[in-house]
Amino acid sequence: MSKNPLLRQEDSKVEVTGLEAKYYDTLMNIITLGWYPSFIQKVIDDLGLREGERILDFGAGTGRNALLMREKVGSSGEIVGLEIGEEMKGQFLSKTAAYDNICLEDRRIDEPLPYEGEFDRVFISFVLHGFVQEKRDAIIANASRALKPGGTFCILDYANFDVDAAPWWVRFAIRKVECPLAGDFIRRDTREMLAAHGFGDFSEDRYMKGYLRLLQAKKL
Ligand SMILES: C[S@@+](CC[C@H](N)C(=O)[O-])C[C@H]1O[C@@H](n2cnc3c(N)ncnc32)[C@H](O)[C@@H]1O
Repeated sequence: MSKNPLLRQEDSKVEVTGLEAKYYDTLMNIITLGWYPSFIQKVIDDLGLREGERILDFGAGTGRNALLMREKVGSSGEIVGLEIGEEMKGQFLSKTAAYDNICLEDRRIDEPLPYEGEFDRVFISFVLHGFVQEKRDAIIANASRALKPGGTFCILDYANFDVDAAPWWVRFAIRKVECPLAGDFIRRDTREMLAAHGFGDFSEDRYMKGYLRLLQAKKL
């Protein structure tokens, strides 16, 4: 059950569509006052990717992250993006067309997936917070199934913190700009959520005064 029973998946803003999707990368650059490109580059550096790794990218968006990860895994690695948004899929395909080791599949990450023990990493960036808890658990179970033993689930999203005690600009962003599900995600313990699915050996990097986090967890 959701901590807040009033939360519904229909209230989520995670399925980005229309103009917001069409100009997603530009909007992210603008609303972060130009900070986003260096931020996401730092996150991809912090992943510690190695040549030849196979990565499954949940809710892959425009392909910006896939291209950055491709620089790390090289031509012997592979990136498989999962995405359902029409505008996002179009951008992903045109951005990554030059690379035959980046591909896109039209699959919902909150429904059972066909991958079993095939990937070194599952990466999910600013997606997990946008689901009700039952669906978050289904997504984590999908990640666990898709990973090789010892593989790593890499979650870039909000950290866990007390929203009421945060500065006004964080409270404003979470309460007025983000979808209601983000507040629920932030209040939960993500490590506990992952441990319940057999993940452990956690490591994390923090960004934006600690309110954003790259949490990496190994499939034990
Ligand atoms: C906030 S955007 C983040 C995109 C990308 N991960 C990034 O960091 O730039 C969320 C993405 O998840 C996709 N998405 C939402 N629900 C999904 C689902 N059930 N299955 C697959 N993709 C989904 C959306 O279409 C959108 O591209």
